[in-house]
This record gives sequence, structure tokens and C-alpha cells, in this order.
Amino acid sequence: MKVTEASFVKSFCKLADDGFRLGFHERNGGNLSYRIREEEIAEIRDQLSFDRPFTAIGTEVPTLADTYFMVTGTGQYFQNVLEKPAETCGIIQIDGTGTQYRTVWGFSTGGRPTSELPSHLMNHAVKMAATGGKHRVIYHCHPANIIAMTFVLPMDDAVFTKELWESMTECPVVFPQGVGVIPWMVPGGKDIAVATSEKMKKYDVAVWAHHGIFCSGDTFDATFGLAHTVEKSAEIYVKVRSMTDKKTQTITRDDFIELAKAFGFTLSQEIMAAMKE
Ligand code: 13P
Ligand code: ZN
Repeated sequence: MKVTEASFVKSFCKLADDGFRLGFHERNGGNLSYRIREEEIAEIRDQLSFDRPFTAIGTEVPTLADTYFMVTGTGQYFQNVLEKPAETCGIIQIDGTGTQYRTVWGFSTGGRPTSELPSHLMNHAVKMAATGGKHRVIYHCHPANIIAMTFVLPMDDAVFTKELWESMTECPVVFPQGVGVIPWMVPGGKDIAVATSEKMKKYDVAVWAHHGIFCSGDTFDATFGLAHTVEKSAEIYVKVRSMTDKKTQTITRDDFIELAKAFGFTLSQEIMAAMKE
């Protein structure tokens, strides 16, 4: 099968295009990665080439040894992914030690994986362990409203979660564990990768101050839906703050408890305890 005909490749490209059309990806902003299933690799193996040298990842991900990922390229525009997948994206193989990768497909004009590869792979390692292998997609984007919130609210997981949960009723249903927030850091290196993967042990969303968000999920739809929901809620928060400093009414802590009972999910006890204080 041609790589571009594989269903995971089509879903990967569709997510990139959906994100671009929602304004989450100015220029080369954002990046996406997918941990490819063994059977999906088997279907395209004859299209892969294993002659390129291994390169250092910049961090260690031993639990991901010998696995394959589809990733967007550094400097590539999400705007172009649907039209030119083999140029803007690549498939990489992690070596047996989890410290190096090599490109086995794509980056056809000489590109390489996103500069955020260390964050993506460390997040994959954490989420793979935390979900028993279910999570396969890591998505980083630059949505305007969640970035705006990081200039106004303290960098506190419970404060951000409370405001996002309160801004739209479905939010606690979509991310009952809440969101983690990370103060401003230099992007693209191991330090921000370590800080993000620490948050991802607890959450499926990490907010990077003045930069964007990282989301993790089992499918492309669920992961994109999560980023979309967080950003929609952030947009409502920004609109409310633009109208007033004081809400006339809101969804209360007791309402969250009612909601969790009605929909049969468990809210983060840590965040609920912090909201009491
Ligand atoms: P890349 O072009 O290297 O993927 O970087 C974009 C980005 O959003 C960095 O955080
Ligand atoms: Zn970014």
C-alpha cells in the first residue's frame, strides 16, 4: 500500500488541516506525532527505506525502542500538510536504545522532524504507560485564547482548570482530570520536554505559558477534539473577562459534582480540593 493511502496517514493529514483552518497554526506553528501500530507498519513496510543514518533524539525514551512515529517536520506549515504529506511529514524509527531516530519515509525535500521531537516522544512514553498503550496521538498547537489566558491567570493547574471547567458545561466531561500549566520556558529542548511529561503523568493537556498547548489522546478525533474544546472554553473565558471582572452567575463546584454523577465520570480530587480553599 502507498503510504499516503494508509488510513492513519489520511487521519494525520486531516487533523493538520482542521487545525490550520481553525487558526491554531500560523506559519510553522505547532506539530503533531502519531505512534504507529505494528500492523500499520507491516502494510507499508515495502515503501520504507532503512538506509539513512540514526540521529540523536536529544533525550532518552527507552520504552519506545524500535517503535515508529509519523511526525510533522520542523519549519513546515500545517497549511501544506494535506497537499504535500511526503514533504511536510515523515515516518521515523526509534533505535533499540530509545536515544536515536532515523527517517524511513518522507521529508522528501530534505527536512527533519519537529524541533519539539523530545517533548513529543517523552509525552508518548508517559501516556503509553499511563493508558496501557491506548494513547497514540500527541498534538501541539498555538490557539490564541488559551495563550491569552496565560498572561492573566496565575500559573496554577487548579486555577486554570476551574476557569476552563466553568466556562462551558461540557469541559469537565471532556477533561475531568483538568489541565496542567507550565511557566514560560525555551521551546524545543529537553527541559521543556521533561516539564511537560511530568504534567502529562496526571493530565491529557499541558498549557505552555505564552506559547500554546500539548494534548494527548487515543485517536486523532479525540486528541483534536480535546484541543478544540480547551480553546473554545478559553475563548468564552476571554469574552467574559472582556465584559466584566465579576461573573453574575456561573457553574459552581456543587454543579460539577452533580454533573460528574449524572454523566458517570470522576473529577480530579486534587483540583476539587484546591477549589474548596
Ligand atoms: P517546528 O516547526 O520545529 O515544529 O516548531 C514549531 C513550534 O510550534 C515550536 O514550538
Ligand atoms: Zn509551538
